[in-house]
Amino acid sequence: MQIANKVAVVTGGASGLGQATAEALAGAGAVVAIFDLNDELGQQTASKLGPNALYCRVNVTSEDDVKTAVSQVMAKLGAIHICINCAGVGGAVKTVSRGEPFPLEQFTKIVNINLIGSFNVLRLAAVEMGKNAPEGPSGERGVIINTASIAAYDGQMGQAAYAASKGGVVSMALPIARDLARDGIRCMTIAPGLFETPMVKGLSDKIRAGIEAQLEYPKRFGLPSEYAKLATQIIENSYLNGECIRLDAASRLPPR
Ligand SMILES: NC(=O)c1ccc[n+]([C@@H]2O[C@H](COP(=O)([O-])OP(=O)(O)OC[C@H]3O[C@@H](n4cnc5c(N)ncnc54)[C@H](O)[C@@H]3O)[C@@H](O)[C@H]2O)c1
Repeated sequence: MQIANKVAVVTGGASGLGQATAEALAGAGAVVAIFDLNDELGQQTASKLGPNALYCRVNVTSEDDVKTAVSQVMAKLGAIHICINCAGVGGAVKTVSRGEPFPLEQFTKIVNINLIGSFNVLRLAAVEMGKNAPEGPSGERGVIINTASIAAYDGQMGQAAYAASKGGVVSMALPIARDLARDGIRCMTIAPGLFETPMVKGLSDKIRAGIEAQLEYPKRFGLPSEYAKLATQIIENSYLNGECIRLDAASRLPPR
């Protein structure tokens, strides 16, 4: 799918990987709507993305919030062609820690935002994508990209909830691609390794150095612009569908 003159919804677009992707898509000529909870950064980012860019305050886990924001995008921008789910949260607790079980509320929250939130947004965006005129020889109407993590494959100690949420994101790509094939909508997943974003800003120098030592090549955290480049390639390459791509410099997470 060509990016120029398309409408893209980017969740988590106020920060990190989502923000870099929103910037790349706007740079390639798309109009971007950011769905996020961070009003200050969301508005600031949208104001740099061109006169038609939108910021919508959305909790991705809320059906009402997403329905309202999708209606706003349709009213103001007239279509949704691209949906990129980058909203997500981390959180590490061991299954049993000092005799205490992993708090169920925290497990539920992580799965709700990372997995159910992504599905909530993409299913409502897909309804609107189905109304687009088909483009090109394969009659494309839309592209969905979800963000997993290499923790989906190599979850570390404490990552039961995060890995489960991201494993779900990996697994749902194929059935979603199958469900939406007749509508000309593709669904792909990116599983990033460690990326230089606010999500990892809290790591101590010692932990960072330990992680970097275990990376294969290049021995550094990924750049948000490198995630954005893969997202734009997925949009432009119509033969990518139903699959998850690791973007991780050949790293494999150790147990801790
Ligand atoms: N940074 C990494 O190393 C890394 C590695 C693997 C996977 N990921 C995944 O990539 C995605 C983006 O992460 P990032 O590093 O850019 O993080 P980030 O913290 O910089 O950005 C996440 C954004 O999501 C928003 N958000 C959180 N909960 C939300 C909700 N309920 N509704 C709407 N918006 C919400 C936040 O406000 C924030 O703007 C996440 O899904 C994360 O799990 C990140």
